[in-house]
Amino acid sequence: MIITLTGGTGFIGRKLLDHLRAAGHEVRVLCRSPKTGIPPEVALFLWDAMEADPPLESLEGAGAVVHLAGESVAQRWSPEIKRRIRTSRVEGTRRLVKALTGLDSKPAVLVSASATGYYGDRGDEELTEDAAPGSGFLADVCREWEAEARKAAELGIRVVTPRIGMVLGPDGGALAQMVPPFKMFLGGQLGSGRQWMSWIHIEDMVRALAFAIENTALEGPVNAVAPNPVRNSQFTRTLARTLRRPALFTVPERALRLLYGEMAGILLASQRALPRALEKAGFTFRFPELGPALKHLLG
Ligand SMILES: NC(=O)c1ccc[n+]([C@@H]2O[C@H](COP(=O)([O-])OP(=O)(O)OC[C@H]3O[C@@H](n4cnc5c(N)ncnc54)[C@H](OP(=O)(O)O)[C@@H]3O)[C@@H](O)[C@H]2O)c1
Repeated sequence: MIITLTGGTGFIGRKLLDHLRAAGHEVRVLCRSPKTGIPPEVALFLWDAMEADPPLESLEGAGAVVHLAGESVAQRWSPEIKRRIRTSRVEGTRRLVKALTGLDSKPAVLVSASATGYYGDRGDEELTEDAAPGSGFLADVCREWEAEARKAAELGIRVVTPRIGMVLGPDGGALAQMVPPFKMFLGGQLGSGRQWMSWIHIEDMVRALAFAIENTALEGPVNAVAPNPVRNSQFTRTLARTLRRPALFTVPERALRLLYGEMAGILLASQRALPRALEKAGFTFRFPELGPALKHLLG
């Protein structure tokens, strides 16, 4: 199958690209500028989601489209960065769906990323896909982002919006930020440590995206998280144990807010998301528990 991938140069996208190609698919990548490290057999198409509609030739003939592109949220949120986070996702998805409207033959499925940020800050509540959206900047962005993707369903396209949790991978993402302080004996829990963290191993993340392409039973929002979320205090202890380092400190909430501004909300928000839709459709996790997942990635 031909699969068109946006964000194929990113942390998740690069791994997905390899996975899809290994499964025999022809993958096309949409990106803002040519990137090193993309295999020469992969067709690259230039697209800036904030500026223009994607080129139709990148989508024509594709059986599936996976849309991962978006300005990174892991940076200090100035008003301009917030505009970029929202516009790249909401307007970018609108432009992508508009382009799908103009195709002679439409893809069977659009898998368009969202995030567990959809749920906002929810304490101990167990969050399955039918939970109400939360409040705050990221929750609003996710709601609008998903709404734009859903419009592709009016074209007869199956739409899946994976609400992605914190993806744990060996070379990037959140773990790359967390490990150095622990290695320097400076690791510790964030704030009260009571907030739930919905995580997923990168291998399961990529498998879940491929599963969403293939499995026609999946439609709509899908929590892309491991079945066993943990509190930040447990995450901290498990990471420290895996790295054979102590976790002696607590980073106070006030320090996080001083350091990261509004973005600190991501580190402090509690999301206890459960992968009900994936499990119901028969997906099995290779890394359902945090300890073995971290050992596999860091051990
Ligand atoms: N990683 C996680 O833990 C996590 C958690 C929840 C949700 N997600 C969501 O999943 C998607 C993929 O995540 P990721 O970690 O792979 O992200 P990433 O590494 O930051 O990659 C995202 C890609 O989006 C493109 N991009 C960046 N800024 C852009 C902008 N302003 N306008 C248009 N395109 C832009 C870039 O591609 P080019 O430079 O090639 O254009 C980049 O490779 C994102 O939408 C993210 O919000 C990720």
